[in-house]
Amino acid sequence: MSELNKRKKLLVIGAGDFQLPLVQKASETCDVFLAAPVISEAFYPYIKGRLLKDVRDEEAILTFAKDQGIDGVITDQTDIAVRSVAYVSEKMGLPGIGCETGILFTDKSLMRARLAELGIPQLKNRTVSSVDQAVGFYRELCRERQEKQALSDAAKAQETSNNTRNNTGYNIGDNRGDNSADAAKSETSSALPPVKVIIKPLDTQGSRGVQVCADEQEIRKKYEEASRWSSSREVIVEQFATGREFVVESLVLGYEYRTLCIGDTLYFDIPDAFAAKSRIFPTTADDALRRKVLELDEKIIRGFGLRQGITHSEYIMEGDEVYLIETAARGGGVFISSDLIHLSSGLETEQFLVNIALGQQKEMPVIHPQLQYCGYMAFYLPVGRVIRADGIEKVCALPFVHRNQLSKLHAGLENREGATDKTSRLAVIVSGKTREELEANMQEVRNTLQIEIQSPDGTVTGPIWE
Ligand SMILES: Nc1ncnc2c1ncn2[C@@H]1O[C@H](COP(=O)(O)OP(=O)(O)O)[C@@H](O)[C@H]1O
Ligand SMILES: [Mg+2]
Repeated sequence: MSELNKRKKLLVIGAGDFQLPLVQKASETCDVFLAAPVISEAFYPYIKGRLLKDVRDEEAILTFAKDQGIDGVITDQTDIAVRSVAYVSEKMGLPGIGCETGILFTDKSLMRARLAELGIPQLKNRTVSSVDQAVGFYRELCRERQEKQALSDAAKAQETSNNTRNNTGYNIGDNRGDNSADAAKSETSSALPPVKVIIKPLDTQGSRGVQVCADEQEIRKKYEEASRWSSSREVIVEQFATGREFVVESLVLGYEYRTLCIGDTLYFDIPDAFAAKSRIFPTTADDALRRKVLELDEKIIRGFGLRQGITHSEYIMEGDEVYLIETAARGGGVFISSDLIHLSSGLETEQFLVNIALGQQKEMPVIHPQLQYCGYMAFYLPVGRVIRADGIEKVCALPFVHRNQLSKLHAGLENREGATDKTSRLAVIVSGKTREELEANMQEVRNTLQIEIQSPDGTVTGPIWE
């Protein structure tokens, strides 16, 4: 067989539900090798060899990759394999993003440092290595706010006093003696809500350890959990933003940037469960706001020096400003990369990823502006045992339902933890010609799924959709 026609050997790192589409597609043209701690039977028909190791075990994966003589290495929809992919490709001289960029895109503290270098505004934040430092930063934020409030109160008091003078022709403050400022203060200053911060590990995913704190005690109580998930044990303490959230997927080839799609992120109403109940493309934001987010996305991705790949970036608003939460050098999880990018832009995402890993993508692929509406909808199971799981086949047969995780659901399934990190969600990808149609289709999925869970105390409930 000529060198040209020989099947290339591709190593994929990570073997969760969301890497299956990549492995399936890659197996059509390549011999696929897989490295992950657990590899389910679903992958067996598509792979030629496997290594059962933690996806972060760079040395073991490199040795395996050399032994197999791989021609390329890639991952998708997971952050924890990104550094190993960068490492193996760099060490073997294969196409990749380089270790340094791999680390930048997987360390939220380095991301913030780079934003500062690029002059891009960010939410107030600090990376700390002890709970006392975290509390110290929290106190700084409280002090800053108090000072800001005092200034604004003083300005209001001045205005009130000016108005009084103007209205009455004389300064009634004269009769109040030294109490005027205090009186004005009590009129203008309202009780301030507590300063809120979010604490998070530097390098996990799935919102593990991410928690909101509204006072010092809460920081002291929750700090250890955030630190536990951080490989350096360091924690980011960040001003808590309250605005809407966006998700942007983009494509990079030879350092050239293209937006693929921009969507809205909607959350479950569960405390400290920073998991999206749905992500919907395209966003409902008006053109000006959409442009603002996308210009920021391009500036960041270019500024971070990504050579190639799909990116997944999350943004949050505070007031009129848009801020980066995090960016990743791989496509969005929960089938965003495999399904929602394709439904939105027409890109054959997996083929693109295989091509860049092998250095075969010479030209910018065609990217369509938003072809249709689409999104994922996800639900949690409450603690208990599933006693009814009907309608799954019906849902899967619906023409507007795409990839999903419903095959995991069956009567008898036990949910002991009632965990609310993102990895214990089950998701369904849905599309529609219009936003209204998408919403109606999502409703139909909810109505068709007949799921009942019996809790340990005997009560029967449905899945958690909100
Ligand atoms: N500064 C912040 N203000 C408000 N919410 C935030 C902030 N930072 C993170 N979040 C929320 O927490 C979620 C998880 O944080 P993120 O940094 O994305 O961690 P992960 O890597 O676990 O996804 C975000 O999607 C967002 O909803
Ligand atoms: Mg995130």
